[in-house]
Formats: sequence, C-alpha cells, structure tokens
Amino acid sequence: MNTPVKQHLIDPEICIRCYTCEMTCPLNAIEHDDNNVVVNADLCNFCMDCVPVCPTGSIDEWRVVATPYSLAEQYEMEELPGQQDIEAAPTSAGEAADDPVAALLAEAHKGAGGKARAPVSAGKPVVNMYTLGKPAKMSVQGNYRLTDDPDHDVRHIILDPGALPFPVLEGQSVGIIPPGEDADGKPHLPRLYSVSSPRDGERPGYKNISLTVKREDGGLASNYLCDLAQGDAVNVTGPFGATFLMPNASDARMLLICTGTGSAPMRAFTMQRQRAAASGGMTMFFGARTPNSLPYFGPLKKVPESLLKQHLVFSRLEDADKEYVQDRIIAEQDEVAEMLSDAKTHIYICGLRGMEDGVEKAMTSIAESMGEQWTALRDAMREDGRYHVETY
Ligand code: A2P
Repeated sequence: MNTPVKQHLIDPEICIRCYTCEMTCPLNAIEHDDNNVVVNADLCNFCMDCVPVCPTGSIDEWRVVATPYSLAEQYEMEELPGQQDIEAAPTSAGEAADDPVAALLAEAHKGAGGKARAPVSAGKPVVNMYTLGKPAKMSVQGNYRLTDDPDHDVRHIILDPGALPFPVLEGQSVGIIPPGEDADGKPHLPRLYSVSSPRDGERPGYKNISLTVKREDGGLASNYLCDLAQGDAVNVTGPFGATFLMPNASDARMLLICTGTGSAPMRAFTMQRQRAAASGGMTMFFGARTPNSLPYFGPLKKVPESLLKQHLVFSRLEDADKEYVQDRIIAEQDEVAEMLSDAKTHIYICGLRGMEDGVEKAMTSIAESMGEQWTALRDAMREDGRYHVETY
C-alpha cells in the first residue's frame, strides 16, 4: 500500500468561489473550473498562505489519504469526503510503524483556529446551483442610491430571477459575472456579494434578491453593478456559503458587528427576524465614515429597538473624534459582556478585514473583565456554530 500522506482540500459546500486562495498561492497549486476550486496535491507544500485569506474557512480542510484525490475527482466533489480509515503502512522491517497515521492526522487537524459552523437551528442552505458555465440570468428590478455622500456611492440593487429557482438564506452570497473578457481574453470571474434581502425575497413571496454594492474606483464589477438600469440582464452564480447563517431559533440573540457594506447580511437577518417575529433581540455595532455614507441609515432609524438595538459609529464626523466599532464595543462593554455570558448569543462580524484585529482586542479585554479567556470562549462559540466572521 502507499504511504499515507496529508492532503489539502477545499470544502465545496462552504467555499464562496472568491478565488482569493488561488490568487494567493505562491506555487499555483490552486485552480478552479466552472464548478469547484481545487488543490493540486503534487504542488501544495502546506505553506498555509491561503488559509488566513479565505473568508469562510472552507480552505482549512485536510485528509490523510493513501492516494491523494486527483484534480478530476476534486472537480466532481459536491461535498468533502470523510476521513478514510487508513492503517499505518508497515515499516521496511515488516513491523507496524510508530503510528505515523495518527501523527499525520493530528498534524492535519491543526487548522487555522477552528472550523466555521452554521448555527444548530439554521436552515439547510442550497449551494452552487448556478455556476460560471451555467449562471442564472436575472433581470434588474431596481438600482437605488443609498448614500448622500457624493464621494461614497453605495447602491441597493434588486435582481429578479423570474421563473428560475434561486433559493437563498440570509448570510449567503452570490457571484456576479461582469460582462466582457480579461486581458488574457478569458471571461471575467464572478465577484462575490452578500445578499441583503431575506429568504422569501426583497418583497415577501417574490424571491427577488437584493445586493448592497459600493462603487470602487476602477472596480470592474462594482461599476458594472452600480451603473445597471432597470431591465438589464445579469449573470449570477451561487448561492454560496453554508456557515454564515442565522439561527432559526426564535429566542436566539444576535450580536452583529459590521462596517460599510458588511451591513448587507445584517439587513437580511434583521428583515427575516422581523418577518418571523423572532423573540430574541439583536444588538448591532455598525461603523461608517458619516451618517451620509452609512448604507440604510434612513430605514435603520425606523427599526424598533426591541428588534435591533443600534450602535452607529462614525469615523469621520467633523465635530467628533474618530470612532471605530471596536471602540464602541469597549464603551458598551457591560452590554457585550452580558451577551457573551448567554449561551443563546450568536456573533456575526462582517466588513473590513482590518476590523477583525480591533474587535479581537476589544473582546479579549471584555472577556478578561468577566474572568474568561476570549480565545477559549470564541473557539467554544465557533465550535457551537455561534461565532461567524466574513471579512474582506
Ligand atoms: P476610516 O476609513 O474613516 O478610517 P466604508 O467601507 O463605508 O468606508 O466604511 C468603513 C468604515 O470602517 C469606516 O468608518 C472606516 O474608517 C472604518 N474602518 C477602517 N479601518 C478600520 C479598522 N481597522 N477597524 C474598524 N473600522 C475600520
């Protein structure tokens, strides 16, 4: 038999096809087709460069295998295979080795800090229904500007899948394929956007989906989306993502931390909880430059506090010091500590990657004040499907 080896795989159910891993891998060991993103076992040297850049944790999968899964096999996978039962290869002396498989497995399970999990009561998401080769053609129902700040164009874009089934849960993402070709003459890869509407549609029962898109200077997909007119056709892949999902349990409590367009899934959560008349409250820390650049500032003012307690935090007000979400979390530490101590609390963090560090520090300090260690608390919450991060 072959000597067992550790193999790096990507979970096709959780991967959101953002291709960041592929762009990051220094060995070009990661590639994709219309269906999956895969790792070439002949090239991967476990450098781990791809692990921290993955927004979902789908990249952090390892198996000990007698024969590595080929690229063709990985392209066909709809879900990850389980760990095979592998016996230790005999040594040259014909005796059992000193359990090299156990050592490999232990090493294989040394991930980047725990697996992302969906909440126990979350709905079962549908993933990868529409691919690069077979996208869903949707039509634009509306494209509305959300921000008054002239230098900060954020749009609410509503897409209608028409008769096509396109089931999404709050927290999932879709891929938008910009028209045209790249410099190599290949079709553009899809760009990922979180859905900001709830499961039964932007308009209840209509199953239309909305996106929250910020126009980026020189951004191919964001400019394409922000310039769309009603009736235009858009090619959409997905849905993607199986962990950044909300609990269906009515009494679950949610702590939402976001910046800018990271508010998209938070809007979806809020609308779904309102429609479902959920009893557990939500508390949100939402960071933006100014009220004029905060997406959904107007509509948020109408959301009752019993549904969503809001801490809107601004970094560029003329008459106030710069404030980030992590500063306000510290300022409201009693409220946050009370939520952390409740096993019904779920945490969702979405937005700028830079925020993660600051939020970690704030949480570390709050946990200390509770006599707890944040890393242990966080890992236990993640293991329990109650801690979710999606940053970019
Ligand atoms: P600033 O850019 O003023 O430093 P938007 O995407 O709409 O610009 O909003 C992002 C918000 O997040 C801004 O208020 C931005 O502040 C803030 N921000 C930038 N870096 C961080 C960080 N490391 N931690 C928390 N918030 C941040």
